[in-house]
Amino acid sequence: MGKIGLFYGSSTGNTEFVAYQMKEEFDRRDPSLVDIHNIGSSTPEQVLGYNYLIFGIPTWNTGQLQDDWEIFLPKLAGRDMKGKRVAIFGLGDQNGYGFNFLDAVGMLADAVMADGAQLWGLWKTSNYEFEESRAQVEDHFLGLGIDQDGQADATPARLQEWINQIAGEFGV
Ligand SMILES: Cc1cc2nc3c(=O)[nH]c(=O)nc-3n(C[C@H](O)[C@H](O)[C@H](O)COP(=O)(O)O)c2cc1C
Repeated sequence: MGKIGLFYGSSTGNTEFVAYQMKEEFDRRDPSLVDIHNIGSSTPEQVLGYNYLIFGIPTWNTGQLQDDWEIFLPKLAGRDMKGKRVAIFGLGDQNGYGFNFLDAVGMLADAVMADGAQLWGLWKTSNYEFEESRAQVEDHFLGLGIDQDGQADATPARLQEWINQIAGEFGV
């Protein structure tokens, strides 16, 4: 088993694509570091088996959690996540959904922090154009923002920088 569990949910494949890009980048450093799982076929026990977690979530239906995460999160609620380090990356569309950009990142962050997890992987909001986001706290998002609809060109560099950041924060 790897040291980091990467769990993603994806309805049309964008988050899945980005999750595998991320896994590949970690594999270049150490192929045994990251295990990748679709949250739609995962159990809370699998998630709780890791002390270092990366969660990938797109926002759907105007400000809502992606379906598989919506089903999964109530199962995780109330479980002890103290001591676990969690970093979140979110997919969204700032042009199409500028009043709810990356909202699901904020909702997922609130849920894991309520269960005692430490949140890492915060990301600056400059270089995005949006009106409102539940993922925003001052000049940061509560995780990495990826926009495959409007800023796909920026994704490889964002991934590279964020992976460097969380590798440091996780001490791996
Ligand atoms: C009907 C619909 C609603 C959406 N709602 C939001 C939203 O509220 N906020 C946001 O940032 N992106 C929103 N998006 C954009 C998706 O999050 C984006 O396309 C994402 O890349 C999809 O990821 P997936 O392919 O992994 O499911 C929406 C897209 C659609 C089609």
